[in-house]
Amino acid sequence: MDITIHQNGQIIHIRNSQISYVMEVVDGRYLVHRYFGKSIRRYRGMGVPRYFKRGYSTEHECGQEYVSFDDFPFEYPLRGHGDFRMPAFAVTQENGLTYSDLIFQSVKVWDGKPQIEGLPSLNAGSREAKTVEIICADPKIGLKVTLYYTVIGEIGAVIRHQKIENTGDQVLYLQNAQSFSMELPAREYDFLSLYGTHAKEGNRDRFRLHHGVQRIGSVRGSSSSQHQPFFALMSPDASEEKGEVYGFHLIYSGNFLAQAERDQFGNVRAQMGIHPDTFCWKLAPGEAFETPEAVLNYSGGGLNQMSHNFHRLYREHLFPGNFAGKTRPILLNSWEAMYYDVSLEKIEIQADLAKKLGMELFVLDDGWFRAGNDSRSSMGDWICNEKKLPGGIAKAAEIVHGKGLKFGLWFEPEAVSRKSRLYEIHPDWALNVPGYHMTEGRHEYLLDLSREDVRDYLKGMLDSYLKSGDIDYIKWDMNRPLTDVNSVLLSADRKGEASHRYILGLYDILGWLKETYPSVLVEGCSSGGARFDPGMLYYVSQNWASDNTDAFDRLTIQSGFSLLYPPEVIGAHVSITPNHQTGRVTPLDTRYQAARLFNLGYELDLTKCSEEEKEKIRHQTEEHRKEQEQLMGGTFYRHDVPNDNYVMWSVVTEKVCAAVIFQKFFDPLCSHGQFRLLGLDPEADYEDAESGKIWGGDELMQIGLTVPLVKEDFHAFAVILRRKV
Ligand code: DGJ
Repeated sequence: MDITIHQNGQIIHIRNSQISYVMEVVDGRYLVHRYFGKSIRRYRGMGVPRYFKRGYSTEHECGQEYVSFDDFPFEYPLRGHGDFRMPAFAVTQENGLTYSDLIFQSVKVWDGKPQIEGLPSLNAGSREAKTVEIICADPKIGLKVTLYYTVIGEIGAVIRHQKIENTGDQVLYLQNAQSFSMELPAREYDFLSLYGTHAKEGNRDRFRLHHGVQRIGSVRGSSSSQHQPFFALMSPDASEEKGEVYGFHLIYSGNFLAQAERDQFGNVRAQMGIHPDTFCWKLAPGEAFETPEAVLNYSGGGLNQMSHNFHRLYREHLFPGNFAGKTRPILLNSWEAMYYDVSLEKIEIQADLAKKLGMELFVLDDGWFRAGNDSRSSMGDWICNEKKLPGGIAKAAEIVHGKGLKFGLWFEPEAVSRKSRLYEIHPDWALNVPGYHMTEGRHEYLLDLSREDVRDYLKGMLDSYLKSGDIDYIKWDMNRPLTDVNSVLLSADRKGEASHRYILGLYDILGWLKETYPSVLVEGCSSGGARFDPGMLYYVSQNWASDNTDAFDRLTIQSGFSLLYPPEVIGAHVSITPNHQTGRVTPLDTRYQAARLFNLGYELDLTKCSEEEKEKIRHQTEEHRKEQEQLMGGTFYRHDVPNDNYVMWSVVTEKVCAAVIFQKFFDPLCSHGQFRLLGLDPEADYEDAESGKIWGGDELMQIGLTVPLVKEDFHAFAVILRRKV
């Protein structure tokens, strides 16, 4: 890895064995983008645009020639000077003008990686990292923008963010500060994103990038199940296994905008950052603002390699230390078994069976503090309903621990019910616009996390439960979007800060939790996967992917999330059939196979299982525990398959490969398929753990497993291959 600055400081080349990222300072003033992609040894000026004098455009004297900003590849573009494409930055001056310039000032390189105050960010850990810091400024208005670029080891990604400082003596209003902007040459690209809704997250959308702006985003206050803060631009031939992919991901949990623009000449600009529609930040003289971090990932090996770059970065440089790289306990969650109607008796029966069937953690979900058996009340008070659970949470924990299981508890700390003591006492603690009707969601309002008194209350409440040491796990849920976004404490000139300040407040509480109780396993959740993002995964060690536990739908949902996150953080539970969300009936084995390579749990009333089913579950947990250790940290692959009727996943380590192939439907149009393995050693031999047959790694990867057509819908075919020594 190295960062070189040559030609008198004009060329900045960030490089490791996987990628190169090149910028140039043109005419001593303009910072422009030259290249991002597969690593090149030395940049000598290839790809510099040859300008063509156009009619009805603008002209700028630039070195030897006059250029038009219409297609000038600005590294951090702004509006007003002749670049009419999407700006990455905008600031309003006291005189009301939204206008500024950004002129290159200096560049320096240092070892290590910046951390961002109050925001989650990747850490270099013990791996070598280098950062380029480029300063641009508008001296006329006292504006300084520092652009940061970091490479960590040999990982194929660049990590970017910006710091914006007011160095002058007037107040500035930051209207837009994207976390990155990047230019790609005029070629054909497909735009890929993950869209969804409650109970169907993580669906792929892929289309050819056309002229104009194509954008996704969230203004729901959280990253949302509607869109993941991710998109990729990829060569039209790219698949799981081949092709060029540029993948962009934002380390942030709030409102975001992700967009790509294909200009009239075919050039492409990509951007992502905080959504400017719900953002305006006051910068008083001397104040600074830092954007969230974005990961710019390059893969020459299809979507799998993009995923591997993300997985490696997040496993080794983002996830909370105590659980990263460790196997997670197999849990039984009470939600689908009890919903709100919890009792000590039910807990005891389920925990007893859970232990007998090989589970390790019992999670008491919603209901334990509710006055009734619905979502209408009590949120915010967090006092255990002792009519349901005499002896309180301490008693429930004692029962569960007594069975030899760990005990986990559900909270939704950010919410407050209209019917609650907390709301009666502190109505102003909820997000609200005085004088207007407040919008309820699931009979809840959200607390104004930008307020310190609110955060102190929540920390105190969580502390009162955690300090006893009875709680080994927390499920941190959040079940409604942000509306009436206003903090009554913010002055008029800071109202535009409320959405971002909510997220900063959330991160403050989660940071406190991580630091104070590092051994408590925290699972993130937001009506399933509505806030499943790398910002949250800086604080929580796993995330519930979806309220939809149907094995068939889970193939799409988990394939989607696996583009970005390694399997051990993606919550996947085996539930009852007919499935509570879809009514679908799938075989128990398929439900297990769909969950097994991920963060495995069970979420069903175990008393409703037949003896045969219980025996199967006992066998599953036993098998899972054995293979979990061996597969932990392995490389996860999604495979290109013969047709859409199949999904294939595998996890490969040095010694073992676990692969699962799902046949969605029995379809006579399908024949026995050949499913090629990936990531094996072609020189090594592998033993099929079940049949004892020996296959060559090359044979398995080039010819592949033959899987017969089975007369059953939702069938799963699993294989374990052990490398022969
Ligand atoms: C939404 C979550 O996604 C579910 O798993 C469950 O915890 C409910 N909330 C409880 O209210």
